[in-house]
Amino acid sequence: MTAIPLQPPRRLVEFTLDGAATRVPEGATLLDACRAAGKDVPTLCEGDTLTPKNACRVCVVEVEGARTLAPACSRAAEPGMSVHTDTERTRHSRRLVLELLASSVDLSTTPRAAAWIVEYGAEPGRFGADAARLNEEPKVDNDLYVRDYDKCILCYKCVDACGEQWQNTFAIAVAGRGFDARIAVEHDAPLTDSACVYCGNCIEVCPTGALSFKSEFDMRAAGTWDESAQSETTTVCAYCGVGCNLTLHVQDNEIVKVTSPHDNPVTHGNLCIKGRFGYQHVQNRD
Ligand code: SF4
Ligand code: SF4
Ligand code: FES
Repeated sequence: MTAIPLQPPRRLVEFTLDGAATRVPEGATLLDACRAAGKDVPTLCEGDTLTPKNACRVCVVEVEGARTLAPACSRAAEPGMSVHTDTERTRHSRRLVLELLASSVDLSTTPRAAAWIVEYGAEPGRFGADAARLNEEPKVDNDLYVRDYDKCILCYKCVDACGEQWQNTFAIAVAGRGFDARIAVEHDAPLTDSACVYCGNCIEVCPTGALSFKSEFDMRAAGTWDESAQSETTTVCAYCGVGCNLTLHVQDNEIVKVTSPHDNPVTHGNLCIKGRFGYQHVQNRD
């Protein structure tokens, strides 16, 4: 029998969140505390299965006594700190971040972005029509997934998922610097000529829809993509003995994409090509 060592119990950290006494396990972030308290702090680059990158700064909160605003997604709760999540300063900062992002990239498929823009009174148009836009055509170079970098906020989540944090394939990286920085495969080649193994783990973490299933991309183009008409069923992949969890997204009796629960302690939302994309035989009725 294999002995499984128990982790030592984690101590609780006591601090004040929007004036209310709060306790969270040691190591929890301010975002964890906000979510546990039912507070809706916007996030974009935060990934629940990835190390925080602090790229977008839309999640900032105010810590009493601190000179700068703190990103809630990466700042650990400390005993005695007093944190405010909804002040004029945090709202102003979030508004500006949303304005800058929405004026430079297409947030139309970023969940909740439109609602946050309204909530924070962001006016992306105030930078004028000349505000930087990539205006790149989506890269459709294979049958499995599409890269639409007009929607990319350069959060690097896909790079981390493809690289050392999960997949260790290192097919995608950041090319260029400053304003020219772009997510790309080596030599900006088509995906089919790259090291990509089509696990789709980058799609799983992309917060904006810049990376999407070809099925979703095609249905959006045809105007038939309708999340409200989709059901989700979590099951077990039958291809091999790892037994990853698959969540099948079904619309009109067809599987339209496959995701995986992030809270699975073995796979953390990651899959391989078979589990992610190998579902066509299920609906081949010929
Ligand atoms: S493609 Fe998606 S995950 Fe990758 S950097 Fe852009 S927005 Fe982030
Ligand atoms: S997703 Fe891949 S690794 Fe996981 S059970 Fe299926 S075939 Fe095996
Ligand atoms: S979500 Fe916290 S910095 Fe992006």
